[in-house]
Amino acid sequence: MKPKVFIAKPIPKEVEEYIAQYCDYRMWEKTEQIPNEVLLEEVADVDGLLTPKGVITKKFLEKAPRLKVVSNIAVGYDTFDLEVMKEHRIVGTHTPYVLDEAVADLAFGLILDSSRRISEFNNLVKAGNWDKTKPETYFYGQDVHHATIGIIGMGRIGEKISRRAALGFEMNVLYHSHTRKPALEEQYGIEYRELDSLLESADIVVMMLPLTSETYHYMGAEQFNKMKSSAIFINCSRGQVVDETALIAALQEGKIRGAGLDVFEVEPIEKDNPLLTMDNVVVLPHIGSATDRTRFDMAMKAAENLVAGVTRGVPENVVPELRCLFEK
Ligand code: DGY
Repeated sequence: MKPKVFIAKPIPKEVEEYIAQYCDYRMWEKTEQIPNEVLLEEVADVDGLLTPKGVITKKFLEKAPRLKVVSNIAVGYDTFDLEVMKEHRIVGTHTPYVLDEAVADLAFGLILDSSRRISEFNNLVKAGNWDKTKPETYFYGQDVHHATIGIIGMGRIGEKISRRAALGFEMNVLYHSHTRKPALEEQYGIEYRELDSLLESADIVVMMLPLTSETYHYMGAEQFNKMKSSAIFINCSRGQVVDETALIAALQEGKIRGAGLDVFEVEPIEKDNPLLTMDNVVVLPHIGSATDRTRFDMAMKAAENLVAGVTRGVPENVVPELRCLFEK
């Protein structure tokens, strides 16, 4: 008998066919997100779950007594309660590597947009407000090439951003991370800095930390106060690594020059969030990995992890905190 799995979002046909070779499956086929009560009914008798963002808690697992594997179609797994999963011996997997370049591209999109005020002037031109009365200086932005960029979090995506910054834009690259990266320092000439020193020196600060209990609100009022008033803040990781109230205050008080944000504390962002009315803030709907190729690769990688897990193999991308489940 094939293992039973539930697929909690529509996936490409090829990925579905791959899963069908090894598993009996049901799938949520609508484009809107699956309602929680439907998900809870669907997981009652399955061995595996393929999900865009599995919120895995003790309560959830009580409704899914057969569940063995949760395969996230995302690299972030901050919605997993890792202690509870360990206790219940639930294997959790994610999709590293396949989205690194796409997210690094988007980070650079936000860097360029915020520094050269691309969206701001796109809006101005489309609104018919490009007129000759404005002084030339009104349109000035900031150089990206040869600027100093400070990357907080030097994981796989941080590395891809460094490469673009050092080799493509000839930037001075500083980084802060819980471990030093001597090989990258050598390869790209990047420089490790303590957090305060990075914040004080960078023209562009890029946040690339995963969300954990240690990184929650990592950037707060104290950290924004240390940044240059001409600096730009970019976040492509998770909204909750930033105290958004402190970010809003820093922008309102001119403590930093602008921001480019793909992620927010509440998503979708609430309609009355002050960030939405600031000309010096570029906002995106969490699209870091949202390209055809990358999302296909993420779905396929997640399917491979799911199949390996429910057929009693060792999935390639078990999240680090749960690899202990496979230790003898
Ligand atoms: C990820 O994979 O974690 C991206 O942020 C998309 O959710």
